[in-house]
Amino acid sequence: MIENAISTFSLPLGIATNFQINGKDYLVPMVIEEPSVVAAASKGAKTARQKGGFVATADESYSIGQIQVLDLDDIDEVISKIKISSKTLLETANSQSKTLSKMNKGAKEITCKKIHTKSGTTMLIVELLIDVGDAMGANITNSMCEAIAPKVEELTGGRILLRILSNYSTRRMAKATAVFDKDNIGGENVVDNIISAYEFANNDVYRAVTHNKGILNGVIAVANATGQDSRAIEAAANAYAARSGRYRSLTTWTKNQDGDLVGELELPMSVGTVGGIINVHPLAKLSLKILRVESASELSYVIVAAGLAQNFSAIRALATEGIQKGHMRLHARNLASAAGALPEQIDKIVSAMIQEKNISLDRAKELVNQI
Ligand code: MEV
Repeated sequence: MIENAISTFSLPLGIATNFQINGKDYLVPMVIEEPSVVAAASKGAKTARQKGGFVATADESYSIGQIQVLDLDDIDEVISKIKISSKTLLETANSQSKTLSKMNKGAKEITCKKIHTKSGTTMLIVELLIDVGDAMGANITNSMCEAIAPKVEELTGGRILLRILSNYSTRRMAKATAVFDKDNIGGENVVDNIISAYEFANNDVYRAVTHNKGILNGVIAVANATGQDSRAIEAAANAYAARSGRYRSLTTWTKNQDGDLVGELELPMSVGTVGGIINVHPLAKLSLKILRVESASELSYVIVAAGLAQNFSAIRALATEGIQKGHMRLHARNLASAAGALPEQIDKIVSAMIQEKNISLDRAKELVNQI
């Protein structure tokens, strides 16, 4: 998969439970090194389940390719030339993928935009919208951009520079919503405190980054388990968080008429269930099999639901007992293991450290020696 590989670097693959999305049950594979994330996602999903689980929707799977054109005199004239020739350009783009064309997918639309730079020049960006179906579609998007670039150059008389997909996949949005019963989360007071916690994140970038990091704990863990390009998802999520001109919370939390908590997470989501490393990586294949998803959009439902579940559990813990209680138990397990405890000794050492309120590697080592 990569150059100069000397080994593989393993991370744990866990299964988050209790997920119900659009009425269907899922076991959700997650790849992550951080203790408590799988537990938090499962707990969040369990609470959501009591009110029917997650409702998820997704857009069409349109990838965006960008071609940068420089050194143009009359950009508006060039834009109308491109519009007139868009049919031929789309045909050239579509000649790059027989598979997509056969499925009536592929390049569908060409748009243009102008960028005015600080140095006073104006450049043209030609954008290609491609229905990539169940693929992530990075390769085909880049190939299509490169294929039409010479024609765009000829047509415009300008100079082509970049030809590359955009990872800001705003034509592939996925959304999950869920209702969390007030009585199951500690009452209306807790609902109000969770909303205040959300408002903190939504209005303060220092909190928003941490809040969104918690969401990405869920999102990226599922993306990694299923062989997605998680950097693309994360970069797009961060841009989306700043779409208002200010970096804000990716989730929104409100209260409904019954006083229950309502959460929503919407994200650009370029994922695939065919192509990429899914063809190569046995555990990515296995994760998709465990998930039983039938399309890329169904996978995107699961990913946004995992992000929402994660955020619910994190802010609920933060707005009630604090995050450390649950974290420290799991951390204690890691310390016991690092101190050399045998698997059958771990529970005993963890309980002792918690009881003594002394969770440290030194104490874990002492307890291992005592045993
Ligand atoms: C830790 O990985 C994630 C949290 O910090 C998220 C949050 O603060 O909302 C718990």
